[in-house]
Amino acid sequence: MAAAVRAAARGRRLGALCRGLSASLPAASYAELRARAARDPAAFWGQQARAALRWDTPYSAARRPAPGPGATRWFLGGRLNVAVNCLDQHVQQSPDRVALIWEKDEPGTEVKITYRELLDMTCRLANTLKKYGIQKGDRVAVYMPVSPLAVAAMLACARIGAVHTVVFAGFSAEALAGRINDSECKAVITYNQGIRGGRIIELKKTVDEAVKNCPSVKHVFVAQRTDNTVHMGDLDIPLNEEMAREAPVCIPESMESEDMLFMLYTSGSTGKPKGIVHTQAGYLLYAALTHKYVFDYQQGDIFGCVADIGWITGHSYVVYGPLCNGATSVLFESTPTYPDPGRYWETVQRLKINQFYGAPTAIRLLLKYGDQWVKKYDRSSLKTLGSVGEPINHEAWQWFHKVVGDSKCTLVDTWWQTETGGICIAPRPSEEGAEIIPAMAMRPFFGIVPVLMDENGKVIEGNDVSGALCIAEPWPGMARTIYRDNQRFVDAYFKTYPGYYFTGDSAYRTKEGYYQITGRMDDVINVSGHRLGTAEIEDAMDEHPAVPETAVIGYPHEIKGEGAFAFVVLKDDTVQTEHVKQELKAIVASKIAKYAVPDHVLVVKRLPKTRSGKIMRRLLKKIIADEGSNLGDITTLEDPSVITEILDAYEKYKSEQRTS
Ligand code: PRX
Repeated sequence: MAAAVRAAARGRRLGALCRGLSASLPAASYAELRARAARDPAAFWGQQARAALRWDTPYSAARRPAPGPGATRWFLGGRLNVAVNCLDQHVQQSPDRVALIWEKDEPGTEVKITYRELLDMTCRLANTLKKYGIQKGDRVAVYMPVSPLAVAAMLACARIGAVHTVVFAGFSAEALAGRINDSECKAVITYNQGIRGGRIIELKKTVDEAVKNCPSVKHVFVAQRTDNTVHMGDLDIPLNEEMAREAPVCIPESMESEDMLFMLYTSGSTGKPKGIVHTQAGYLLYAALTHKYVFDYQQGDIFGCVADIGWITGHSYVVYGPLCNGATSVLFESTPTYPDPGRYWETVQRLKINQFYGAPTAIRLLLKYGDQWVKKYDRSSLKTLGSVGEPINHEAWQWFHKVVGDSKCTLVDTWWQTETGGICIAPRPSEEGAEIIPAMAMRPFFGIVPVLMDENGKVIEGNDVSGALCIAEPWPGMARTIYRDNQRFVDAYFKTYPGYYFTGDSAYRTKEGYYQITGRMDDVINVSGHRLGTAEIEDAMDEHPAVPETAVIGYPHEIKGEGAFAFVVLKDDTVQTEHVKQELKAIVASKIAKYAVPDHVLVVKRLPKTRSGKIMRRLLKKIIADEGSNLGDITTLEDPSVITEILDAYEKYKSEQRTS
C-alpha cells in the first residue's frame, strides 16, 4: 500500500474515532491529550469531567491537593447522579437504543434491553428499596450473577444514594456474611436461583445461610431467575412483584462528587478482605474515559466484556464505563465452554460484538480445544480484543490475536486493579499505528505516572530496569479508602513508598520505556484472574482441629495462571490423613469459595521457619519449582534439617501423584 493511501486510511480511522467520541475531546490527538494531562493534571481532568459528565451543580475545584497522596479529592462542590449519567441522559436522546444484551446461559435466548427499559427497571427497583426504608448512605449487598436486574440493582442504589457492595455469586455463605457484616448492609438483593453452564446455583439458600449471622440485614429482596419456588422467610420480599407495583419514575438523589458510590471487597496480603471504596464523579469519569479510549469504543459498537459484575472489571467495563458512554453492553451469563468451547465465538457472531474483553485463563483453556471451535464462526465484527486480570503469556496472546482476531484486531493487554477503578496501563490509547508489543501492557493512560522503586525506596531512573510498580500522581478513579479502616488503606498503599501509591506488583521498564508487569510482590495470588490472599486460605484451614499450622503459596498453573499449593502440619495423633485433606478442601470451599481450594495439599512435619518464627515461603516456592538443590541463603532457618524433610515429603507426593 502506498504511503499516501495508508495515511488517508489512518486519517479516516482517526476521523471516525473523533466523531465517535463525545464533545469531551474535540480534535486533540492522543499525544496532545497526554501532554495536557502531564502539564496540568487538575486542569486536564477538570476539562474532561465537565465535558463527559452531566452535572446537577458544576464542581468548584477540580482537584484538592492533600497532605497524603491517598487523600486527594476530586471535583469538590460538584453534584451529580451516576444513574442519570448512565441512563436518563441517553433516554432523552435515544430511548430505544439497546443498553444491554443479556446473553443468557442457553445460546440463542438473548434478551435486549433498551435504555428506556433499563431506566424503567432501575426506577421501579429504586422505589422498592425506598419503600422498605433504604436511604442515602445505606449499604446494600447484591448477590446476583450478571443480568439486567443486577445492573438495575446497582443503578437503583446509585439513584437513591445507597452504596452497593456486589458479592461474586460464587462466594460461600460465610464469605458473603463476612462482607455483609463488615459493611453493615441493611438489605440483600438476590435471585431465587442462578443458572450457569446448564447448572442451577442455589443463590437464595446461600443467602439464607449467610443472613442468619447478619443482624444488620432487615430485608432480602428475591427476584425470580428460574420458575422454581424457594422457601420465603420473614425477611424475604418477592422483588419482581414489588417492582411491578412501583412507579417507573424515581427522582434521583443529587450526590456530592466524593460521596461513596460503591464498595467492593478484595483480598490483601494480610487480614480479611478489604472493602475498597469508590466515589461518584471521579470513578465514573475514569471508567468512562478508559472504556472509550482503551478499546476505541465508537457509538453503535456492541461492547462485550465477559467478566462477572462481582469483580471490578464487571463494575467498570460491563456497567459504569459503557453505560455512561451510551454504549450497548453485553451481559454474559454463561461459561466459555457451555455448551461447547465455541461459545464465546458463536456469541460474537450472533451478537456482532465489536470489542471482546476477557481473561487470559479462559483464552488458555480455549486454545487447548483447537482452532476449529473459533474458525467455525464469523468474527469479522471484532475490532478490539482485550485481556485483563493476570499476565497473559505469549502463546495465549498470539492465539487470541491470530486465531480469534484473524491478525486484524488490536489486542490490548490491560493492567489495573480493584483499587485503581479503571485501566492504568494498556497499549491504547496511542497514536494510530504505534506498535503493540505482544503480552505487554506497555503504555500508561493519560494522567497515570508509573514509577519503579528500588529496594531502598528510591525511584529507578532510565530504561531496561525492574522494580516495585508505583504511581506518582493521583487520578480521579483511584479508591478513596478502605471502608471504616482508613489506616489500613494508608498502610497498605502509601506507607512502603511515602508519597507514592504502591500497587503491590513488580514491573520491568523495557529499553523503549514500556511497562511489563512481572507479578505480585506480596502474598496475594491470582487464581483464574481472581485475587486471593494466601493468608485467607491458611486461616480457613487452620480452623480444622487436627491442623496446628499451614503455609499456602502460589505456583504456576497451565490454565489458571496460578494455583494454590498448601503445606499442612497435622497433629501427631492424626490418623486419617487423606480424610483430613479432603475436609480441609471442603473447609476452604465453604469459608471462601470453590476457586480458592488448593490444588495440592502436602502434609509435612514442620514448616521452614526463621529463628523469629516467620515461615520462609520463598523456600517452599523453590521446592515445588524443583529448585530444592538451589535454595540460596538458608542461614536464617531455625533448623535447616527441615528442608530435607520437606523435600522427601514432596518427592514422595510427586511419585504418588504420578501413579494415581
Ligand atoms: O497483579 C495484578 C493482576 O491483578 C491484580 C489486581 O487484581 P484485581 O484487583 O482483582 O483486579 C483484576 C482486574 C483489574 C494486579 O495487582 N493484574 C491485573 N491485570 C493484569 C495483571 N497482571 C498482569 N497483567 C495484567 N494485565
